[in-house]
Amino acid sequence: MKKYYRLSFKEMDYFRIQGGIPLSGTVAINGAKNAALPLLAASLLTDKQLILDRVPLVADVFSLKLLLEHLGVRVQMNSKTFVAQAEKIDSGARADYNMVRKMRASILVLGGLLGRCGKAQVAFPGGCAIGVRPVDYHIAGLQALGVDVSVYDGYIHAFAPKGRVSGGVYKFPRPSVTGTQNLLLASVLAKGETRLENIALEPEVLSLVQCLKQMGAVIEGQGTSVLQIQGKDSLEGTHFNILPDRIEIGTYIVAALMSRGELTLTGCAKELMGSYVSLLTHIGVPIREVSPGTFYIKSPDYWSGFNIRTQVFPGFPTDLQSQFTVLATQAENSSTIEENIFENRFMHVGELSRMGANITINGSTAYIKGKTSLTGAEVMATDLRASVCLVLAALAAKGETIVNRVYHLDRGYENLPGKLLSCGAKIERVCPKRSL
Ligand code: UD1
Repeated sequence: MKKYYRLSFKEMDYFRIQGGIPLSGTVAINGAKNAALPLLAASLLTDKQLILDRVPLVADVFSLKLLLEHLGVRVQMNSKTFVAQAEKIDSGARADYNMVRKMRASILVLGGLLGRCGKAQVAFPGGCAIGVRPVDYHIAGLQALGVDVSVYDGYIHAFAPKGRVSGGVYKFPRPSVTGTQNLLLASVLAKGETRLENIALEPEVLSLVQCLKQMGAVIEGQGTSVLQIQGKDSLEGTHFNILPDRIEIGTYIVAALMSRGELTLTGCAKELMGSYVSLLTHIGVPIREVSPGTFYIKSPDYWSGFNIRTQVFPGFPTDLQSQFTVLATQAENSSTIEENIFENRFMHVGELSRMGANITINGSTAYIKGKTSLTGAEVMATDLRASVCLVLAALAAKGETIVNRVYHLDRGYENLPGKLLSCGAKIERVCPKRSL
């Protein structure tokens, strides 16, 4: 007898957005996805409980949760608190391609498994829409720490010959966020000492250092570009609060401006927002801290164009580049944005042009004409941040916009339509279903 399956194709979900409605209300900012992922991976390093508060409920977190469970970690969820415990790790388990392909940050289990078991097999993460994104620093770094690493059958096979990572010295050719985190995870349980130079100083790296120290790791140099790690035989559990998502904050600031509305953002942290708050102030957008961690943004009648370059922290973050590209379309004069972190991060420009934006790209620089009227259109998201910039453009556009492939957005934004709806936006998630 023929069987009929009813499948819902999440990939087909889209947003329908009516533009031109000023937002008004309060948005609670989540914990940062990019901080949560390495912290969850740190649960591999101890048989004790690691309790994480303020975990954002986004697809990338659930992908990593699944992968960790596959490796033997028990993860209990109570709302936004995750309790992870890796009493026994199945050292023979592999991080399969099917799990890793969904999220590049799965590579973080490589360091965690090596630290705990002295060996690991993790599918090679491959390319990504925003650029080649190699993992050569991760591999060279592990080799410098005494690990045998080979890549075959599509997997990274890593093995510490003495059963434990030895430790060593590694200087990153350029700072890498997950590269630094991976080597940290691999080195805190090493037999000897490790020195990591030219590390990434993003707050999400510092929060991992802080949590590992709370677990008993011995790490010196926190806040500088060199970390010195003295390996320990074991680590304890701990309870840790995930820091606010500085990219989500920046995204909602742009949402308030694009809709010509006003928003109050709660659960922020001023020290994470420096690179864009000073820029916004400079172009005529005041951001007021009404109480510690709560910020109020009211769209002024106009703001000036700007020239920015994406850089490592504390420079302007690449993860806000697409959102500020959209912001520039409504500035009084032209802007330039130079992308210095990823080589292919202007995928959204073609889609924004379909909505009337006037942007030209020359090499790694986008030239954006200001005062452009945007009109609703059917557009397609290509990656996480590109998808949110299309939603932001839709808030300012005349008429209706359809944003396809919003599953990209689910990877990093928790309940974005719900948050915008509660502030008066007209946004609907449409989930077409098909019977086979
Ligand atoms: C992380 C963030 C991502 C952010 C990026 C830059 C997470 C899960 N993701 O990505 O949201 O956009 O930092 O702030 O935290 N590189 C190499 N070889 C390597 C590693 C990196 O050449 O082995 C290059 C990359 O191609 C890129 C640069 O170094 O040009 C920085 O990348 P990196 O900091 O590693 O980015 P991710 O950790 O992948």
